Amino acid sequence: MLKAIYPGSFDPVTFGHLDIIRRSSKIVDRLVVGVLNNNAKMPLFSVEERVRMLEEVTKDFKNIAIVPFEGLLVDFARKLDAAFIIRGLRAITDFEYELQMSQTNHKLEPGVETMFLTTSIEYSYLSSTTVKEIAAFGGDISQFVPEVIGKALKEKMKVKRSV
Ligand code: PNS
Repeated sequence: MLKAIYPGSFDPVTFGHLDIIRRSSKIVDRLVVGVLNNNAKMPLFSVEERVRMLEEVTKDFKNIAIVPFEGLLVDFARKLDAAFIIRGLRAITDFEYELQMSQTNHKLEPGVETMFLTTSIEYSYLSSTTVKEIAAFGGDISQFVPEVIGKALKEKMKVKRSV
């Protein structure tokens, strides 16, 4: 059985992530979406919220599991016996960071490869960070995230403003 991990922060999941999930789920038998649990990154959504949102927007896919992880990605990959890690590449600006990460991971665990899917052109500009910024200023994010994520973002921004 060919199993891969698609890791990320998913804070929150966007149409760009979903595009990579959809395309990679066709290549492998089982795709584990690994959700980083790292409070040092100060995520807007808790790991439980990010997992729940991913479960909701991927519920129609049959070969996907959403699993939170802490610590090193290669340890997580080893634990799951995943054949490779999948990452999406948007523009050239992603390349340096992604190259460094994949080469470091390969040094740490030569048995785990990283495979890159280039993001579909319509999502090449999209990031969770810009979506959060647009939402924070009350902008329309409906073309960037599924409706349920847009609602969750609006709620979160309301809570943030009230504290
Ligand atoms: O969505 P992101 O924030 O770009 O995802 C980054 C992620 C989660 C893939 C990366 O930060 C990661 O793998 N973190 C786990 C810690 C780790 O293994 N670090 C060494 C890799 S260089």
